[in-house]
Amino acid sequence: MKIDGTHYRSLWWNSDKHVLEIIDQRWLPHDFRVVPVATMQDFADAIYQMRVRGAPLIGATAAYGMARAMAQDASDANMDAAWAFLEKTRPTAINLRWALDRCRAALRPLPQSARAEAALALAHDIAEEDVEINRRIGENGLALIREIAARKPEGTPVRVLTHCNAGWLATVDWGTATSPMYHAHDAGLPLHIWVDETRPRNQGALTAWELGGHGVPHTYITDNAGGHLMQHGLVDLVITGTDRTTRRGDVCNKIGTYLKALAAHDNGVPFYVALPSPTIDWTVSDGVAEIPIEDRDTSEVTHVQGTTAAGAIDTVRVTPDGTAGGNPAFDVTPNRLVTGLITERGVCAASEDGLAGLFPDFAKAAQ
Ligand code: MRU
Repeated sequence: MKIDGTHYRSLWWNSDKHVLEIIDQRWLPHDFRVVPVATMQDFADAIYQMRVRGAPLIGATAAYGMARAMAQDASDANMDAAWAFLEKTRPTAINLRWALDRCRAALRPLPQSARAEAALALAHDIAEEDVEINRRIGENGLALIREIAARKPEGTPVRVLTHCNAGWLATVDWGTATSPMYHAHDAGLPLHIWVDETRPRNQGALTAWELGGHGVPHTYITDNAGGHLMQHGLVDLVITGTDRTTRRGDVCNKIGTYLKALAAHDNGVPFYVALPSPTIDWTVSDGVAEIPIEDRDTSEVTHVQGTTAAGAIDTVRVTPDGTAGGNPAFDVTPNRLVTGLITERGVCAASEDGLAGLFPDFAKAAQ
């Protein structure tokens, strides 16, 4: 998507320097910095420190990490070591393991001399596929937004609430939850987006930055405001992303998503999840029982980053010195609270039948 009129992706391959470049998201929305990711340690740090973040982008980055490893040493032992080194960076988003598994399965049968080139080509493919998947999610979500718009008085905006950043910064391009918004805006449908702040890392500020860059009207709200807005009839639809969706349609996403789903359920507001197929974990069924929830550093809760009046990026403590923080980074929304899943192949029920109906090939392969 565009920044000040120039099209960017969240990562790209610099073929002159033969290196991956990323937008370092730790500084957004305050500063726009592009950094290279060169060594294996750089790749692990970029993912763990959330220089890149969002399930699909983590997967694409990991694929480039495998390519880097193969360029250094294309042996089976190094392939397995790279897989393990990158896989442990973040536990919840399944796209990480999906990309690493896909790379290993494709590269293992090749002679070592062919692996470096093949790994880089595969990383490019994974990145391109992500863009196309998200574009299609946008088209399928646009149809939903159109239906809602058609039931509203002409010219009144469809009010969509979103949580975290499931935007283009969280993918290679388009975003998942934001793709229907960008498509609807570009189609001329009036929209207004309620953007949850999403403490502790304030990914909502990334969403606000993106939406602003594309001209989509939005308001940044506290995480606790969504239920109140829904009670007062101010939300037509919720669309969030997902970091891992089970085969029966339980959705694991950024902490606080579950509370939004409960509030939506109580107020009869449709709650949709934008789901690219690599985010489906066909090996698990019960999300609450089976999905590992990342527990991050508590300094993310006790401290907050922002820009000072003098324009410097700074971090301040918000708690009394010595107060303990707790930082579970994701939660699970059971399928009964999810109105539907917006995938690249269409919209389906959040159920085993719904997912298997759209993805019979993947469901069968996982059996
Ligand atoms: O911790 P993050 O910022 O990586 O978490 C991101 C989310 O939870 C997103 O909503 C999810 O990955 C979907 S991104 C298209």
